[in-house]
Amino acid sequence: MSFYDKDIVSIRDFDRKQIEEILRVSERMVPYALGKKRTKVLEGRILGNLFFEPSTRTRLSFESAAHRLGVDVIDVSEMSATSISKGETLADTIRMVDAYCDLIVLRHPHEGAARLAAKFSENPVINAGDGAGSHPTQTLLDLFTIKRAKGKIEGLNIVLVGDLKYGRTVHSLIDALTEFGANLTFVAPETLQMPEDNVKHVKGKGAKPQFTDKLEHVIPHADVLYVTRIQKERFPDPSEYNKVAGMYRINNEMLREAKKDLVVLHPLPRVDEIAPEVDDTLHAKYFEQAFNGIPVRMALLYLILGGEGL
Ligand code: CP
Repeated sequence: MSFYDKDIVSIRDFDRKQIEEILRVSERMVPYALGKKRTKVLEGRILGNLFFEPSTRTRLSFESAAHRLGVDVIDVSEMSATSISKGETLADTIRMVDAYCDLIVLRHPHEGAARLAAKFSENPVINAGDGAGSHPTQTLLDLFTIKRAKGKIEGLNIVLVGDLKYGRTVHSLIDALTEFGANLTFVAPETLQMPEDNVKHVKGKGAKPQFTDKLEHVIPHADVLYVTRIQKERFPDPSEYNKVAGMYRINNEMLREAKKDLVVLHPLPRVDEIAPEVDDTLHAKYFEQAFNGIPVRMALLYLILGGEGL
């Protein structure tokens, strides 16, 4: 399949073979992402980075990926800095930015915003997170990290813990993990469990997820522990947040019963759900995971903008 000129709105738009192709190209990008090799293969192209929600990793890794390929970047990191603050619609904003660049990366607080942007933009749009909806490029880098750490994805026991209700990273990730035949366990208090629609979707694709609120019961069998932050900003009622805040905190004591080669991932940012002492263990792969955003996003820019020769 050619990714040339394609939108990346949802991971559901891609099958396993297509994802594997992106992961293969990502692997080729690693020496460039590390600065060990240099290229200007996409010189003359312009990326429009629109971030209407806070971001460190996604925004800066897209920017870094662009620079590593010779792409120029124009960017906005606050809605208040655009004419949306004067009442302009997202659709018109997208039409304008579309005229100023070759590819748009959009993070937006509303679910469905990237799909809408893709409709109004002639150039491709990449969803960098739409509210509690999805975060497909995070999923690609998560898969890349798992594949590099474990050598495979199929058959692994993958435990996802934390805010499964509002967490867009896990909403996207479970779709892809199901495509790859991983075993899923969802750990959350009942109020933050995986939404019914997402569960129904993966079950329809053959997944048989397990549900629990007891992390300690599932840690010994886990190959990958995917930890997420409980997202205060997404709770309509702050008192509901206070009931579940700090419920899961991974520390070395909790990992005593874990497999020696358990991989701990987190899309970051973390607050207090992984104790800093875990950073020094062989389990901790979350900073490597964050770095992997660069080769994976380089691969996407390269494929979508029609790069050749690397
Ligand atoms: N993982 C992730 O999306 O991080 P940022 O919010 O910092 O981009």
